[in-house]
Amino acid sequence: MSESRQEASTGSVTGPVSWRPESWQTHPAIQQPHYADLDELDLVRQELSSLPPLVTSWEILQLKQLIAEAQQGKRFLLQGGDCAESFADCSSERISNRLKVILQMSLVLVHGLQQPVIRLGRFAGQYAKPRSTPMESRNGVELPSYRGDLVNAPEFTPLSRRPDPNRMLRGHARSALTMNFVRALVDGGFADLHHPEYWDLKWVDASAHAADYRRIVADIAEAVQFMETLIGEPITSFSRVDFYTSHEALLLHYEQALTRQVPRQPGWFNLSTHFPWIGMRTADPDGAHVEYCRGIRNPIGIKVGPSMPIERLLRILEILNPDDEPGRIVLIHRMGMSKIAEALPPLLEAVRATGRRILWCCDPMHGNTETLANGIKTRRFANIVGELEQSVDLHAAAGTHLGGVHLELTGEDVTECMGGARGLGEADLSRAYRSTVDPRLNYEQSIELTLRIVQKLGRSRK
Ligand code: PEP
Ligand code: CO
Repeated sequence: MSESRQEASTGSVTGPVSWRPESWQTHPAIQQPHYADLDELDLVRQELSSLPPLVTSWEILQLKQLIAEAQQGKRFLLQGGDCAESFADCSSERISNRLKVILQMSLVLVHGLQQPVIRLGRFAGQYAKPRSTPMESRNGVELPSYRGDLVNAPEFTPLSRRPDPNRMLRGHARSALTMNFVRALVDGGFADLHHPEYWDLKWVDASAHAADYRRIVADIAEAVQFMETLIGEPITSFSRVDFYTSHEALLLHYEQALTRQVPRQPGWFNLSTHFPWIGMRTADPDGAHVEYCRGIRNPIGIKVGPSMPIERLLRILEILNPDDEPGRIVLIHRMGMSKIAEALPPLLEAVRATGRRILWCCDPMHGNTETLANGIKTRRFANIVGELEQSVDLHAAAGTHLGGVHLELTGEDVTECMGGARGLGEADLSRAYRSTVDPRLNYEQSIELTLRIVQKLGRSRK
């Protein structure tokens, strides 16, 4: 790696010397709200800084180790959850349904890929959203865009749309409530999750792949039964550290306040989440988001879209991981079904040529968002599957490998994405469309997609 960068820092293993949690403030910070009252902002930041963190440095380093193993092809990463959490959805049912679907998906993956799976939720802090325009106009009225519940509220009124720093305190509290419940559920054991015979699989018969799906599910049930016979008791719990959280590190005042030092560990940790990621719009080597992430010891995700110049990506990698530390970098490509064949191979080739340790993940959601004539935002299941399948082949051709997926999903029966076994069409979208931002896979579509991943990856790895 370049000498100049090594001189400028002690490397990501312990964090650069000349960095502070607030260093980002001297870099161009896009996608930040304009708070009207800076004293109020300061008070909130001070209060947040004194509140307990949501995760521990030990868990973060453990996740980094697991990602390092995934970089070697020994584990698979499943990252999923809402596009944006909302304060209103912080309820026991929503949280447990989302956890259930992710755990069921991971069981299908463990079995189908014959590999351990890293379960990484997009939750307990996924409250801030990048927007394409800072202002929104309706009928001649212009107000600040909705930037997620961490910043303002979605209703189109001046009061709701006013960026309110106190929302960061509420976001921290909701994240803590979510985290607390997730930890309790995971610890307490979700016994039926291991038994596909208790899953809701009625939709399978509607699929063209029904026979294949039934066989995979029957195999899982048999394997679980075999294990239980072997150990002589039901498999009841996943271990506590088997579940990790992630969110886009977007609102830097919030991230800064949760960035801490801990006893007996050098450097700084973002203790609001295990895994922060840099969104496509803020992945700028000279920008505030990369500067902020440079100094923390967490593993970092970077979203890579079709317009990312190769040189820019290589610079970001150099800044964020000067010493090529194992487990530090996850590159999440989100090209879109129609662009991936052209956009991905040159990036794979250029990054592979550097010899860097990377975990490659595919986000097949964000390049496949479309707006229908009636203004509804949706995604087609066929495009989501198509991008994933292409990405497996493109990695194989480039000599790299796809080691994870990044999905927007919910455990609820929503109708936001079209297609899947039930063939949801345009007319179905109005029935249960609840997302305030991007359309998510529903429970059935999430399980179906996982079965498709297993079909494709299981085959390509044989
Ligand atoms: C997201 O993950 O919700 C998102 C906004 O993605 P991207 O930065 O890839 O557009
Ligand atoms: Co999204």
